Amino acid sequence: MTLVPATAAEIARAATLLRKGDLVAFPTETVYGLGADATQGEAVARIFETKGRPRFNPLIATVASLAEAEKIAVVGPMAAKLAAAFWPGPLTLVMPLAARSTISDLVTAGLSTIAVRVPSNPVAHDLIVAAGRPIAAPSANRSGRLSPTTARHVAEDLGKAVDLILDGGPCRHGLESTIVDVSGDLPTLLRPGAVAAEEIERELGQPLWRRHASSGQRPSAPGQLDSHYAPRARMRLNIQTSQPGEALLAFGDAVPAHRGPMINLSQSGNLRQAAAALFAALRELDRTGVSTIAVMPIPDTGLGEAINDRLRRAAAPRPAN
Ligand code: TXA
Ligand code: MG
Repeated sequence: MTLVPATAAEIARAATLLRKGDLVAFPTETVYGLGADATQGEAVARIFETKGRPRFNPLIATVASLAEAEKIAVVGPMAAKLAAAFWPGPLTLVMPLAARSTISDLVTAGLSTIAVRVPSNPVAHDLIVAAGRPIAAPSANRSGRLSPTTARHVAEDLGKAVDLILDGGPCRHGLESTIVDVSGDLPTLLRPGAVAAEEIERELGQPLWRRHASSGQRPSAPGQLDSHYAPRARMRLNIQTSQPGEALLAFGDAVPAHRGPMINLSQSGNLRQAAAALFAALRELDRTGVSTIAVMPIPDTGLGEAINDRLRRAAAPRPAN
């Protein structure tokens, strides 16, 4: 494990590692983040692998400034107001994904929105500037564990799995960023955090909607909480052979005979490559207009667990509305 003080030289080295597709843990004012280049699918896949996340939840993209945010998201009037008041700082804004963004589908979990924040921690800021691209960064802990607020926590939890840990001292807030969804008409609090909701409401001049069931404001049901891209086509999982008229989502080199649209997630059976290709492949096969996408079995180990979770969700019956 490489834990180093966050000097200018180490930050420069960390930026080079990020551009290469490696993982770097770094301090932010909230908690330590596990960073990867948000434009490289396989680098982002390594985040899920390293955290042992059984699901592809969308990730926050950290950028250096509002101008950089505007390259990946559509910053509307509400977002601009909140950015002016709270950026740089511990507020994450969910906004429509910009048409020309080069962000990996794995960061957004295939959604048409993206969560963005501009950290105020100088190490985080300098690292993102040096990397010269958006950095996807969930908290740097194994899935299900507490968020780390010191470099030592990261080392204890993730250790060898991270290429470099930048030690910038303890995090100022020690609590994750507040997440507000401003992609629609009603600003919605998705996660309470280091910026008090009241402060945000004061700035907006209107109340935030709460997505939590306990608030009683909006109906919510299990499964509805994690919105995900859902293909229009039906999905048939773990198939041995495909039917006429189906599209085939293949994996590995033992592909059954198939006529019609087909995408192989990884001919060599590499789960990291498959994860990086998954959302784009689903969209592309869906766009062909087939009624069903048949999916070959994918091993349920490592990243395969998250891939299979995503496929099951895509295959699940749609909630009635
Ligand atoms: O303080 C923080 O925000 C830390 C530091 C490292 O920046 N990061 C962090 O990331 O807490 P993470 O991955 O642990 O939490 C990200 C949250 C998840 O709950 C995810 O569902 C939500 O952000 N999220 C990301 N993109 C979203 C989107 N497009 N729509 C709705 N929620 C989104
Ligand atoms: Mg977390």
